[in-house]
Amino acid sequence: MCGIVGYIGHRDAYEVIIKGLKRLEYRGYDSAGIALLNDKVELAKTKGKVADLEAMCATTISNKGKLGLGHTRWATHGIPNDTNSHPHVSNSGNLVLVHNGIIENYDALKQTLLKRGYVFHSDTDTEILVNLIEDVKIKEKVKLGKAVQIALNQVIGAYAIAVFDVQKPGEIVAAKLGSPLAIGVGEKEYFIASDASPYIEHTNKTVYLEDGEMAIIRLHKSLKIRSIKNDNLIDPYVQELQMSIENIEKGGYDHFMLKEIYEQPQAIIDTFRGRMKADEGIVKLSGLEDHIEKFLHARRIIVIACGTSWHAGLVAEYIFEDLARIPVEVEYASEFRYRNPVIFKDDVVIAISQSGETADTLAAIKLAKQQGAFVFGICNVVGSSIARETHTGAYTHAGPEIGVASTKAFTTQITLLTLMALRLGKKLGALSNTRYRNLLQELQLIPAKIEKVLAVSSQIEHISSLYNHATNCLYLGRGYNFPVALEGALKLKEISYIHAEGYPAAEMKHGPIALIDENMPVFVIATKKGHYDKIVSNIQEIKSRNAKIIAIVTEGDETVKGLADHVIEIPETEECMTPLLASVPLQILSYYIALQRGCNVDQPRNLAKSVTVE
Ligand code: G6P
Repeated sequence: MCGIVGYIGHRDAYEVIIKGLKRLEYRGYDSAGIALLNDKVELAKTKGKVADLEAMCATTISNKGKLGLGHTRWATHGIPNDTNSHPHVSNSGNLVLVHNGIIENYDALKQTLLKRGYVFHSDTDTEILVNLIEDVKIKEKVKLGKAVQIALNQVIGAYAIAVFDVQKPGEIVAAKLGSPLAIGVGEKEYFIASDASPYIEHTNKTVYLEDGEMAIIRLHKSLKIRSIKNDNLIDPYVQELQMSIENIEKGGYDHFMLKEIYEQPQAIIDTFRGRMKADEGIVKLSGLEDHIEKFLHARRIIVIACGTSWHAGLVAEYIFEDLARIPVEVEYASEFRYRNPVIFKDDVVIAISQSGETADTLAAIKLAKQQGAFVFGICNVVGSSIARETHTGAYTHAGPEIGVASTKAFTTQITLLTLMALRLGKKLGALSNTRYRNLLQELQLIPAKIEKVLAVSSQIEHISSLYNHATNCLYLGRGYNFPVALEGALKLKEISYIHAEGYPAAEMKHGPIALIDENMPVFVIATKKGHYDKIVSNIQEIKSRNAKIIAIVTEGDETVKGLADHVIEIPETEECMTPLLASVPLQILSYYIALQRGCNVDQPRNLAKSVTVE
């Protein structure tokens, strides 16, 4: 959470930073700020979005410096207001710092600094950090880089920081532990950012700082990376990124979320490209093949993830148990990491994360590794912390997902997990050759079938208009469609702020049925394959309590059509692939309901795309 952008070079730093902050707004958007250095430092910061900052700068910033730092915030310490916004400036006015993360021992550090005469204006841990660095710098009579290093060795917590010294223009010092930080290396210029999107049109050469590393970035000098702990010099590993500018812009859509919903057919093709040859019966994921023995002899698979990725994990439980007969447990990473879990050396852990940066998932991976488990990562963001922390893994190749509500990341995660289960099911003899081949053929057809669902989006938009005033909604599904119900409810609540609950349909009678009346829309996933008769009975039970029923059904279904108030048809598919189709109309429904309610679809309140704090 929080986005950092820094620049040092020959361009107008203001332009680079503002543009970069807009691209990083998905990381947090409750306040924003910028500091520019030329012959003096100019600072502007405000509660609100980057656009508010831009408006403020139009009248307050005159300095077109070539060095600067910017920040877009998701509040942790201190409410979102102008004072708590970053950058933060040290008491002398010399050091200017932006920070993403949490300093856990902030209070102890603050008490020491107060005794030494420092004063604080904000409620943030960041202001403590910038003054700690200043205190070290003055006390030890050292340069900025050394002061940062000494100070960070006193800090407990997570951080990605960038700081400059007004007295020493031409240098930015950055450091990372737990929160991401990338450095773009251009021609006589450097960019610093929480991910590479702010500078991708200027350079694709990127150095991802590792945990415990700091960078001393000086104009006209080569990049220096050092260990924060022992000061050792580390050779920068410069990667060439494949990301393109088109990928991170809206491309004619009103919102990133809509664009990303529509990108799903292509994203799924990209996910199985080069990995699946359906006609030849081949599935090959190198991360899996290289370690296949671990999977074949796994006592069980433990899936760890958060949010929507956790829902993909729940789908994986059904897929792996069904197709490969490997037992699976699915855990919220945040619970797993703190509950002293039993982890066996022959457990295989699959960590799922779109961003590859979720703090709880990252910590759960570290715990599993410490206890000897083998960890396979499924990430979307190439080079992310989780991709690097896991033993091996596979990327989803969905392309950048900017809308905070996850859509294409979810369906591509399921695609990848399906490929893995198919490969393992075949190898373990749990799937006959014919069934295996049929499933591959069907998976190949999924992108075209999603296109058919997208083609009825105007019907879904109409249904949305009938229910956009609801205050509570229920989502029901059974079997493979139970995680779809959870994901449908999550999509609705995160972007439209309507209370929504996902439930296994049969559990409805153990509680939620008490809530059902004529004011409660109930979304039921009632596809032909998968406990159809049972779900039809559940629909009868709902109908007799006068709720409005919106059902996702298989093309040509007549029974549910006769019972429900509205049906949305999806093409027939194999039961294990139903989530790939059934989740799409629910995404579209949430999108239109949020839009009709005037909500900010891409940047819902209080949320952030990348949750780098626990
Ligand atoms: C946040 C996002 C969700 C996402 C979750 C897990 O809550 O808003 O969309 O599902 O984090 O993120 P990850 O990047 O680990 O998949």
